[in-house]
Amino acid sequence: MRAGIDYLVSPVAGGLQGKIRVPGDKSISHRAVILASLAEGVSDCSGFLDSADTRATMAAFRQMGVRITQEDELLSIAGVGLHGLLAPPDTLDVGNSGTSARLLLGVLAGQSFASTLTGDESLVRRPMRRVADPLNSMNADVRVTPEGTLPARITGNRSLRGIEYELPVASAQLKSALLLAGLYARGKTVVIEPAPTRDHTERLLAHFFCPVTRSGKRIMIESGVLRANRMRIPGDISSAAFFLVAGCIVPGSDLVIEGVGLNPTRRAVLDILKLMGADISVANVVEGAAEPCADLRVKYRPMHGISIPAELVPGAIDEFPAIMVAACYARGETVLKDAAELRVKESDRIQALADGLERIGIAVETRPDGLRVEGGRPCGGVVYSHGDHRIAMAFSVAGLAASGPITIQDCKNVDTSFPGFADCARQLGWEIKEVE
Ligand code: S3P
Repeated sequence: MRAGIDYLVSPVAGGLQGKIRVPGDKSISHRAVILASLAEGVSDCSGFLDSADTRATMAAFRQMGVRITQEDELLSIAGVGLHGLLAPPDTLDVGNSGTSARLLLGVLAGQSFASTLTGDESLVRRPMRRVADPLNSMNADVRVTPEGTLPARITGNRSLRGIEYELPVASAQLKSALLLAGLYARGKTVVIEPAPTRDHTERLLAHFFCPVTRSGKRIMIESGVLRANRMRIPGDISSAAFFLVAGCIVPGSDLVIEGVGLNPTRRAVLDILKLMGADISVANVVEGAAEPCADLRVKYRPMHGISIPAELVPGAIDEFPAIMVAACYARGETVLKDAAELRVKESDRIQALADGLERIGIAVETRPDGLRVEGGRPCGGVVYSHGDHRIAMAFSVAGLAASGPITIQDCKNVDTSFPGFADCARQLGWEIKEVE
């Protein structure tokens, strides 16, 4: 990862135009490595996101004896079966990646060896008791710090038992950790979601021939065998979201993002931007073996503020940095509620957004579970990313139509989800400089 990168974005004249592809979906890439490692046989995977976060997952499984060969976005994973992982020689350090941490806790809870899991200065502040507590009620022994954070010590050789558990928060990471632990448990593991969250784990488990059943809010798994399969990972809608908003706010824009994952549990950003008046169309839908994908076309059209419907929040949870930038260019106010989870992402995104928007002259009011943004015309300025990749990319979108250039400080973590973001942006005529 590169150190000390700032972005300098200048307003563009004449609109953004062209066709791009964004890298593979981060959530699916993590799960592809995890499930293929636990499967029997060799799985080939294309479209893999090669980023700092997904490398952390790959490194963890390599440390546990899985052979993974990689050529750019192609992976070949020699699965060791559910019980074939080896004790890692060292602490597993997953850097900035919350998904790696939570999902790995579920896998490690069921192993016959002990392990220790940690992460970087952002990840060791994020809540882990939400995962450790239900795992421990499955008879695992996962110990986190008194603050409920990493490092976690996981004792092996425990026989797990299935539980029925109602998630206290709508979290796909928590749901997935419990389903993965359920692969090692005696009896059924039932997870009840308060609201639907991304279902990539369920889809990929089925793709690896391990059925997961859903009835309403209840998701059920029993121990079984995973068998290798071939996978194609679509482009990440969370990365595409920055380009969608860019197209929405820069007059004269008309751009296409090809091959974007359109899983129904992930596409709420499209609904929200459309409610705000955006001109976005979907073409060339391909159902795919596990995950659907399509091309998205966005054209500039003035937008207006909205009250974001609560039921759309979980399906756009990673897109609010981008959506709030759309809001700052929209006519009137946009209100986001029921999104307290944003406070425990890679940064406190409610505060990070409010700080940045105020720096560029936008009126914002924060609440414990959201924020209210008064649309207008942002001015130039200097914004801090809080070390958060999505805050960095969102404010680089804001710079496209502001009345002056915007500098975004500390953008190195963009590599956690979107290496090559600035190059991709430049293909569309976006003026973005990376300054060391
Ligand atoms: C993710 C789930 C979401 C999301 C994160 C990726 C996943 O987190 O914010 O970026 O891959 O399961 P939560 O499950 O904590 O909401």
